Amino acid sequence: MEHFIYRDGILHAEDVSLVEIAAKVGTPFYVYSTATLQRHYQVFDEALSGMEHFICYAMKANSNMAVLRIMAEMGAGMDVVSGGEYARAIAAGVPGEHIVFSGVGKTREEMAAALRGGIRQFNIESEPEMHVLNEVALSLGTVAPITVRVNPDVDAKTHAKIATGKSENKFGIPIAKARAVYAEAANLKGLEVVGIDVHIGSQLTDLTPYENAFNKVAELTELLREDGHNIRRLDLGGGLGIPYERSNEAPPLPIEYGEVIRRTVGHLSCEIEIEPGRLIAGNAGLLVATVVYRKEGEGRDFLIVDAAMNDLIRPAMYDAHHDIVAVVEPEVGVEPVPYDIVGPVCETGDTFAKERNIPPMEAGDLMAFRSAGAYGAVMASEYNSRPLIPEVLVKDDQFAVVRARPTYEEMINRDTIPYWMT
Ligand code: LLP
Repeated sequence: MEHFIYRDGILHAEDVSLVEIAAKVGTPFYVYSTATLQRHYQVFDEALSGMEHFICYAMKANSNMAVLRIMAEMGAGMDVVSGGEYARAIAAGVPGEHIVFSGVGKTREEMAAALRGGIRQFNIESEPEMHVLNEVALSLGTVAPITVRVNPDVDAKTHAKIATGKSENKFGIPIAKARAVYAEAANLKGLEVVGIDVHIGSQLTDLTPYENAFNKVAELTELLREDGHNIRRLDLGGGLGIPYERSNEAPPLPIEYGEVIRRTVGHLSCEIEIEPGRLIAGNAGLLVATVVYRKEGEGRDFLIVDAAMNDLIRPAMYDAHHDIVAVVEPEVGVEPVPYDIVGPVCETGDTFAKERNIPPMEAGDLMAFRSAGAYGAVMASEYNSRPLIPEVLVKDDQFAVVRARPTYEEMINRDTIPYWMT
């Protein structure tokens, strides 16, 4: 069910009018739908039904505390990639035993914090990291549960900047080396092998790369078991894509992804773990902005809006497409017109869309960028001294600001002048 729909000609998030939020909060802002977040979690849960499974939300997609609380209340674990994300998961009430620690550059401090606070497993990405974790665990008198992230050398067929499963990528250890690395792990007293981890990329719109990677993991599971390792958990990563361009994209559904999992690794009696981020949060959020100026250019009209690349960097960074809609529904029969939709930042890259057909707009009109709930607010910066924009959560007919817009003063006062200059 879609939770961002027009009612009486105004785009709503659940039962709340975006015009009303804009009037209270000011634009630009992000808005998230509780019902959509919950539904996306459930869809994965159903897709894996019949197999022992655990969903670890990849909070890098959207780590707002309110979003994390919703996920925690649904029973989700968390996939974290930094000490900061670990701290957020704990603060959101997620038990340490539900937190998986991924990432290629975990520091000793991050490892120690997670070992002290409780951890489900560390996904180890290199031999040096494995030895450091062993040392840290021994120094704390504990044992760290681990999987080794294997790099299956499959092409995820996604944007090069978010593909992770090819041998030239920095992630994981080559699958051909896995037996040797597991043998080494088994000799380290501070580590306990619990399973295997794989993650091949993000925004996957084809299931074949998953099928190939999971088949390789199944084969490796059997080999490692023959070698005497207790492989009881398979972390299959995240990455399932979402439709960004609704008129011509229909990526596979979680239920079909679940079938691939069942087919490839379902017979191994392992607990299946997945780490979805984008599919949970992406289409649960919009970025709402106001047109500041309509500027007639040569051969094209620009809509200059009050959101910019610092608020939503995906178009500038990955040439990503976000559907853009008018908040006030156009009258029947009004033809869309092409615009270049740009932000106010002093860079040509601050362009959200080129020659995009949308309803005619003028200064003061509101527009919404769809599919902005994942990798939107979390990737924002204050470039051009534009304060981070607020995030708003809707539930039924209620809404609340879940991150406030800092004042200029608050933004400025985070800097300090050295004592010798005062
Ligand atoms: N697990 C691991 C180990 C990951 O590296 C990632 C994403 C995920 C899970 C979650 O993947 P998802 O289900 O969200 O696709 N900023 C980029 C996306 C970067 C993804 C990085 N890793 C974007 O805006 O498209």
